Amino acid sequence: MPERTPYLAANWKMHKTIAEAAAFVDALLPRIAATQHDVVICPPFLALSEVVERSRGSAVRVAAQNMHEAEFGAFTGEVSAPMLVEADVDAVVLGHSERRQHFNETDEALAAKVPAALAAGLEPILCVGESEEARDAEQTKAVLERQLQADLAQVEGARLAGVVIAYEPIWAIGTGRTATPEQAQEACAFIRDVVRERGAAADAVRILYGGSVKPANAAELMAQEDIDGALVGGASLDPEEFAAIIDAA
Ligand code: PGA
Repeated sequence: MPERTPYLAANWKMHKTIAEAAAFVDALLPRIAATQHDVVICPPFLALSEVVERSRGSAVRVAAQNMHEAEFGAFTGEVSAPMLVEADVDAVVLGHSERRQHFNETDEALAAKVPAALAAGLEPILCVGESEEARDAEQTKAVLERQLQADLAQVEGARLAGVVIAYEPIWAIGTGRTATPEQAQEACAFIRDVVRERGAAADAVRILYGGSVKPANAAELMAQEDIDGALVGGASLDPEEFAAIIDAA
């Protein structure tokens, strides 16, 4: 089985000004100077360039939190993959549940966004996850399968290894209610099986867990066989806490 490099992503959501982003990077870099892990910061669009410049030469890579699938056009308020690439951005979060819930992000749009990101040279971090109602109705696997099949429909099997997948149960995001390691492992193993059926080198795909990851629960979650890292929201806003999560991986 190929070794999967641990992948730790800080999803800042709509937090941090440019100045605050700069201060975070300056505080984080000395704390992670020795890390061998993939460390990714996902700032708001306006702070992308600041984080790119300030983290040059370090382990940190930079991701946007969204993008439009078209290269350019009459889409007021949107940003395209080539624009992100020009800014030296490496990756992009796609399909976060907050975008699905509040901004009407659809599986149809994601089916276009994932291949558009890959074609431009951006690493997609595709988020999937079930609602509390779906989990209670034992529909977790059905929801995950539906999202993965729809969102990855236009990605050839051979390219799937370039997609990072984040399992984020909606009921665990920002709630302090983390999935148990067993729940998270079961879902991530299922995701790997779905990817394998698509003909991918599934053992090479990084699958992250997200939802109330903290320094105190990170090690136990990431020790699970199919969990290769974390997508961290609230706890990633503090450089000390995020560094502790990176250390735990
Ligand atoms: P949280 O957010 O860590 O604050 O729960 C995770 C996410 O939404 O990616």
